[in-house]
Amino acid sequence: MRTVDLIQKKRDGLELTKEEITWLVNGYVDGSVPDYQMSAFAMAIYFKGMTTREISDLTMAMVATGEQIDLSAIAGIKVDKHSTGGVGDKVTLILAPLVASFDVPVAKMSGRGLGHTGGTLDKLESIKGYQIEVAQEDFIRQVQETGLAVIGQSDKLVKADKLLYALRDVTATVDTIPLIASSVMSKKIAAGADAILLDVTVGEGAFMKNIEDARVLARTMVELGKAVGRKTVAVITDMSQPVGTSIGNRLEILEALDILQGKGRADVTEFICELAQIMLGLANVDKSLEEVHQHLVNGAALKKFEEMVEAQGGDLEDLYRPVQVSHKVDVLAEATGTITALPALEFGLFAMKLGAGRAVKTDNLDYETGIVFHKKVGEKILAGEPLATIYANQNISENMLTDFQKNVKIEDVVIETKEIIEIIS
Ligand code: URA
Repeated sequence: MRTVDLIQKKRDGLELTKEEITWLVNGYVDGSVPDYQMSAFAMAIYFKGMTTREISDLTMAMVATGEQIDLSAIAGIKVDKHSTGGVGDKVTLILAPLVASFDVPVAKMSGRGLGHTGGTLDKLESIKGYQIEVAQEDFIRQVQETGLAVIGQSDKLVKADKLLYALRDVTATVDTIPLIASSVMSKKIAAGADAILLDVTVGEGAFMKNIEDARVLARTMVELGKAVGRKTVAVITDMSQPVGTSIGNRLEILEALDILQGKGRADVTEFICELAQIMLGLANVDKSLEEVHQHLVNGAALKKFEEMVEAQGGDLEDLYRPVQVSHKVDVLAEATGTITALPALEFGLFAMKLGAGRAVKTDNLDYETGIVFHKKVGEKILAGEPLATIYANQNISENMLTDFQKNVKIEDVVIETKEIIEIIS
């Protein structure tokens, strides 16, 4: 086989065989297919797409490029969760301990943020001492003992995705359904859980900008999961504005702690309870929303979170410390009316400039910085009322404030928002 022929075949919109896909993926991992050919291939997929059969073969070829975790030593149905990425997305930090508090084991590997999106690992690392690199046997032991672990993805899993994701990131080939579906599902399949909840984000701050694309991605991933015997459900969730009130690593930990104590905003709390109910259902544990919410109010979920932080070396005293920044600047509403837009992408990029996110993989983060919104889309605000607070370790110039303000839309209308747009199972 010759790589150039396979690139040409996809470029011309033809279907590749399983052998051809596997040969290409293996060649990329062993170095015989160079980056420049793989990027041409990714671009051909971007423009010509892949059939369901091709996506399935690509996914399984990727899984086979690394180890697969065996979670069978952990009793019960293990459930995993994955989000296709977003801004202010601290859902895992609450959802994982909430589900674990019902004795459903959660053994989760998470990723880092890049660009305007945040990553659960970065948020957890903002807790003093928290270790994200955990040996496989310790990971399994922790889940056996506490029911919960959230660690960094092992380098030994899905080597093809590590290489390909970095390549896609710099060749404008991230936002294409076959490559997102195979990237996400290869990691989920290799991570070994019996059941998977997929949070497919849609909107301006997500890879899927419209509901039709989000539906196709969600259905594709659900089919991939089911084909290998994993119970899989996808929820399509809104990413037109940030999730909850905060963007920024430590700020998001603090918001997560509030939600874990039943003191968070009603909308994000309810959203997470609904996701927890679905995850519990995947493990055959039927609970009402009220029962799920009770585990936030009575401290059961918080206890699980603290147990995990402690087990992974985190400092529980430091956990509750307020952020430490040199500049705290309130942003006041410029008009009276209803907030109709707080674009997730723009505010994700703003937070990135404060140091809360990375432009390139090697950037260092400032864990303390970010934004806290006091009001969200759909809420009324008066001119001069605080809309948000910027937490920075730099001077916030007039230009930056203008930049912030120009993204906020306040109009004289009534609008409704909803976090979960659709469930695909
Ligand atoms: N998340 C992933 O893990 N992979 C993608 O390709 C996109 C989002």
